[in-house]
Amino acid sequence: MSVIRSAVTGVGSYLPEQIVTNDDLSKIVDTSDEWIIERTGIRQRHKARDDQPTSDLATEAARRALVDAGRDPSEVDLIVVATTTPDMTFPATASIVQRKLGAPTCIAFDVQAVCSGFVYALSVADGFVARGHAKCALVIGAEEMTRLMDWTDRTTCVLFGDGAGAFVVEPREGQGTTADQGVLGFALRSDGTKTDLLYVDGGPSSTGTVGHLRMAGNQVFRHAVVNIAEAITAACDKAGVSVPEVDWFVPHQANQRIIKGVGDRLGLDEEKVISTVSMHANTSAASIPLAMDAAIQDGRIKRGDLILLEAMGGGLTWGACAFRF
Ligand code: ACO
Repeated sequence: MSVIRSAVTGVGSYLPEQIVTNDDLSKIVDTSDEWIIERTGIRQRHKARDDQPTSDLATEAARRALVDAGRDPSEVDLIVVATTTPDMTFPATASIVQRKLGAPTCIAFDVQAVCSGFVYALSVADGFVARGHAKCALVIGAEEMTRLMDWTDRTTCVLFGDGAGAFVVEPREGQGTTADQGVLGFALRSDGTKTDLLYVDGGPSSTGTVGHLRMAGNQVFRHAVVNIAEAITAACDKAGVSVPEVDWFVPHQANQRIIKGVGDRLGLDEEKVISTVSMHANTSAASIPLAMDAAIQDGRIKRGDLILLEAMGGGLTWGACAFRF
């Protein structure tokens, strides 16, 4: 049976130049390199310049993904940006990226699911591409989480960083088997009763301010491993693959202990787990494509590999996706 799948044909990422180490942060708040590494695995994070909005990071990651796919901005017909830190309340950062890229009039909008945003955005693009409504889609995760930090709160300001990553998604004809290139299965979840565990205390219709990120970290942690493992199992079931078949596990990079906890719960071989949390910290919706690109660049992830993505974040939202690269 012939089917149209949404295939990831290009991957790119961008990190702002400035690096902030744990020692740098220990000069601002009562923390230490040892505490941050032991509790999170994070060693450093990148920080955007004051004059560098999220759309700049997104546009550079998108350009690199298009080059990787052998596509020109003129061919782009869908842009979905997953972000929690848009340049402005409106227009969508996707429309700004469209202008900066020089892409033609096309479909462009943002998706907001915080750290799960990239998995949600990929599922949206999958809908457009697999149903024939787009032929060259950009799925971008771009964040400047450092803009949301309360720099007096040591429980959150050490955890986050800035960056962007992008996938080019195009239709590919498959045979309806798990050997097909492209998206095979998703599981997406939200539990709005847990909003108070992780949120930003501002917004246009509440305080009229941008606000700061607030998190009951240890409670989020408790939900993370169980929720993520369930979503992974559901996504693999929908895809028709088993967890041991997966070649590479590319998780959202929030905390090395969560990544390890999920891997252990599912019996994943540690060698198959991509981790960039030590270098990037938590870049929210950008962390998955950043990690994917890093593992392609260093030669681990190759064409034809079965990839499993997962994320969890504010909402709470969480989800997973299995696709053949
Ligand atoms: N430096 C030193 N001490 C600290 C720091 C710090 N940066 N931060 C907290 N502490 C202290 C606390 O005050 C506490 O001290 P106390 O015992 O005297 O009260 C102690 O360390 C332990 O605090 P916990 O919060 O219990 O530490 P925990 O081991 O849970 O680690 C962490 C905290 C890293 C936040 C962890 O809970 C975590 O990673 N949670 C999940 C985060 C996550 O995945 N978020 C989802 C994605 S984010 C998004 O969607 C935007």
